[in-house]
Amino acid sequence: MSDWEALRNEFPLLDRYVYFNACSLGPLPLRGKAALAKYAQDWDEQGTPAWFTTWLPLLERYREKVGELLNAPAGSTAIAPSVSVALTTLASGLPLPPGRHTVLIGELDFPTIGHQFLSRPGLEVEFVPSEDGMTISPEAFAERIDSRTALVATTHLFYTTGYLQDVRAIADAAHAAGALCLIDGYQTCGCVPIDVAAMDCDAFTGGCLKWVSGGPGNAFLYVRPSLIPQVRPQGTGWFATRDPFSFTLRELTWADDARRLETGTWAVGCNYAGLAGLELVLEVGVANIQERLRDLTGRILERCDEAGVKTFTPRERSRRCGIVTLECDRPEEVEASLHAEGVIVDSRPGRVRLSPHWCVTEEELERGMDLVLQEVQSVSRS
Ligand SMILES: Cc1ncc(COP(=O)(O)O)c(C=O)c1O
Repeated sequence: MSDWEALRNEFPLLDRYVYFNACSLGPLPLRGKAALAKYAQDWDEQGTPAWFTTWLPLLERYREKVGELLNAPAGSTAIAPSVSVALTTLASGLPLPPGRHTVLIGELDFPTIGHQFLSRPGLEVEFVPSEDGMTISPEAFAERIDSRTALVATTHLFYTTGYLQDVRAIADAAHAAGALCLIDGYQTCGCVPIDVAAMDCDAFTGGCLKWVSGGPGNAFLYVRPSLIPQVRPQGTGWFATRDPFSFTLRELTWADDARRLETGTWAVGCNYAGLAGLELVLEVGVANIQERLRDLTGRILERCDEAGVKTFTPRERSRRCGIVTLECDRPEEVEASLHAEGVIVDSRPGRVRLSPHWCVTEEELERGMDLVLQEVQSVSRS
């Protein structure tokens, strides 16, 4: 088991706030701060040679660590600046089964998933409804998958309810009907152990912004190795080619591995912090982080139940991880008042969202929840 108190020293922000918004932006660890300073130093000291001595090797290590996080084989992961960009590349590049034009998306999924496919001519998007507003069963996906379905695209864990989907069951249903399956794991990377082979998804995207504490600019994607040779993104760049430094203009020869999903020059400063976050989380152990978060969110649910505040998050331990959402009339007001009281939360339409960092102490959790419940109840009375 991890020494959460010792680890807490890595995150100075936690001394200033009760941090209940790790699923939006993970706090900067000391080693991430040092990595950003090192980026400036490498740039300043070396100039252009930094690309070859330091930056390209750092990007290679980043891809390897992403592979470790996802249990993905070498050459199957690529770097992207954001999950939206990763999804754009996948939406245009995945070899969808011919003659099929429907993409199925869960109605609780993050908007950018819908946007990728709504923006693509020739595709029809259908949304799988949620009966309880909190979950969508794999059976609900399975019932709607048919011979028109090209792709099922959904999130691993719903950002507004914290429900952890059984994505293996969804992938199995997609494959049984001849469709592909794409998973957005931005809300599980770093807090739920991921094994893309066991998940049996065809593509996966995620990033380090949230539970990995690696900051923005650190998204990534994975494609099933056997599909990579058929992936032909319609938006690309010279760093997706087999040999970028051949400066070939008149022909496009894709990289043989997942680098064919990358585009142009990377925002390498971001990747310094991303790599630091990845190394930290892998050292602590994603399974340990998951158990810790399930303890914390379990206690948040108990506190809400005791106070009679409605929540939208499953009680079942195995179906949740780091997010709990509470019903709230004026969530932006609550968010602002809590900020003034030293508690950072997030608001979504009709809800306050709580996602404690894994180093939040039990004492902070209780103190933070006293304030959260007080504010939520006071806006619903006024
Ligand atoms: C599940 C999920 N997918 C995608 C996104 C958007 O990612 P990006 O801003 O990197 O495109 C978010 C952002 O919170 C998210 O929670």
